[in-house]
Amino acid sequence: MKSKLPGLLPLLAVLPALFAAEPPVPPVGAFSNASPILFREGGAGLPAYPVLVRDETPTARAERMQWFHDARFGIFIHWGVYAVPARGEWYMNNAKVPEATYRAYAKDFTAAKYDPTAWAALFAEAGAKYMVITAKHHDGFTLYDSKFSDWNAVKASAAGRDLLQPLADAVRARGIRFGLYYSQSQDWNNLGGGTGNKAPWDDAQKQGSFDDYLTRIAVPQVGELLEKYHPSYLFWDTEYAMTPERARPFFDLTCQYPDLIINNRLGGGVLGDTATPEQRIAADALGRDFEVCMTINGSWGFNATDLRWKSAQQLIRNLSDIVSKGGNYLLNIGPTADGTIPAPEVERLQAMGRWLKTNGDAIYATESGPFAKAPAWGRVTQKARPGGGTTLFVHVWNWPPDGKIILPGLQQAAVSGRLLANGAAVTTALSSAGLVVSLPGSAPDPDVSVAALEFAGPIQVMAAPSRAADSSASGTPLDPSGGPLPK
Ligand code: GLC
Repeated sequence: MKSKLPGLLPLLAVLPALFAAEPPVPPVGAFSNASPILFREGGAGLPAYPVLVRDETPTARAERMQWFHDARFGIFIHWGVYAVPARGEWYMNNAKVPEATYRAYAKDFTAAKYDPTAWAALFAEAGAKYMVITAKHHDGFTLYDSKFSDWNAVKASAAGRDLLQPLADAVRARGIRFGLYYSQSQDWNNLGGGTGNKAPWDDAQKQGSFDDYLTRIAVPQVGELLEKYHPSYLFWDTEYAMTPERARPFFDLTCQYPDLIINNRLGGGVLGDTATPEQRIAADALGRDFEVCMTINGSWGFNATDLRWKSAQQLIRNLSDIVSKGGNYLLNIGPTADGTIPAPEVERLQAMGRWLKTNGDAIYATESGPFAKAPAWGRVTQKARPGGGTTLFVHVWNWPPDGKIILPGLQQAAVSGRLLANGAAVTTALSSAGLVVSLPGSAPDPDVSVAALEFAGPIQVMAAPSRAADSSASGTPLDPSGGPLPK
C-alpha cells in the first residue's frame, strides 16, 4: 500500500485540472519530469511515467466522449484462433503451447457460420450501443489481412477472409459504434513480440527484438486498422514492457483521428480516455469516464469447459450498478471457431435487451445517482430534462414488503412518478430522513424495477443520515458460481 502513495498524490493534484475548468489539459507530449504520474486501474508494480494526453480543451474532450458517455452498454468480443482449442484466449501461454503447434490450430478456425448481420441484430436486440472486437489478441493473430504479418485470418486460417469489415458494416447499419481491441505489447507468435513477455516458453519467442517488433508490426498494424476501419474506440491491452518512447508512436497515430477514443492500457504514461476496471465493480464512481469489462461466464475467449454463466438478473443488476456510478458495462462474448455465439450468451443478451427495452431510459445518457452511498434496496441514476427538470430513476432490486423506500437526504418533492414497466403511479412524501417513495403493488420485474420520479429542478441531496444508506450493498459479487475451472 505504502509504495502506491507517492504515485497517487501528484495524480490527485493534477486530475482536477484535467477534467475541470478550461484552459486546456497539458499539450500532447507534455512530458514533464517534474510531476510523474501513475494512473492505472490495479496498476500495482507498474512504473510511473509522465502523463501524456491529447491536446484539447475540456469542452472538446467532452464532445469527443459524448457518445461513449451516453452509450452505457457495449459488447466485447474475444474471437481468434484460441477458439479452436477452446480453453480461453490465454491457452497458448497457460499450456505453454509451442508456436508451431498453436499455429496449426488456424486450419480449424473456419468462421464457417459467421454471420455478422445476425451478430449485429443480436447486439441491437441486447440494447448495446457499441462493440469492441479483438483485432489482435496476445497470440498475435489478426482477424483481418495485414500487410505487416501473414499470421492473420485471411492468409493463415481456414476463414480465408477479412472478418472485421463485414461486422463494422453490419453494426454501423444498426447505429452501433465499432471498436477494436489491440494487444500492442504481448505477441506470442510474431517475431520479436515474445521478447516483451515476462516468460517466453518457446525458443522462437526469444528471437528478434521487441523494439523491432513494435516498429515493423505493432505500430504499422495499428495505423492499418485505424485507416481501414475507422474505429470509434481503440482498446489497448496490455502495458507490459511499454515505455514513453515505445508508447509515443502509437499515441501519435491515434491523435490523427479527432474523434477516436482510447482506453487507458497503452502504457508508457498515456492516460487514455477511459479507465477499464476488469471483472469488478468499484463501490463508488471513479472520477473519470470508465467502463467495466466483464465476462459473461469466467472466460473471455471461448472456453468449452466454462459453464459458470452469470444469471441474467446478475448481469442486469451489474448494468444498473455500474451506470449508477457513472460508468459503462462492456460485457464479453466468446464465439466459437465457426463463428457461433454460444446459446447461453445469446439468451443472456436477449434478456438484457428485454429489460432495456422497458427500462432503457434509466440507463442510456444518464448520470450517476446523487447519493453518496449505494442504497441497500437498489441503485439510482438521473437525467436532466429540457426546461430544467430532472428525472430520478430509482432502480429497485429488493422490493420492500410495505412498498416504501427512502431516498436519503432528499428534501425536494417530486412532481410526479411512475413505474417504467407498467406506468403505475408512484407517490412521494417528504420526511426528515429523506423522500419517502411509495411503490404500487408488487415488483413488476424480479430483476430490477424502475420508478421514474420527475422533479422541477436539479436534485440536491443533503448529507444523509447514516442509517438510511447501506454501503455494504455496494459492489456486486461477480462470479457467484466461483471456484476454479475444471481442467
Ligand atoms: C486481460 C487479459 C486478456 C483480456 C483482457 C480483457 O488483460 O490479458 O486476455 O483480453 O484482460 O480486458
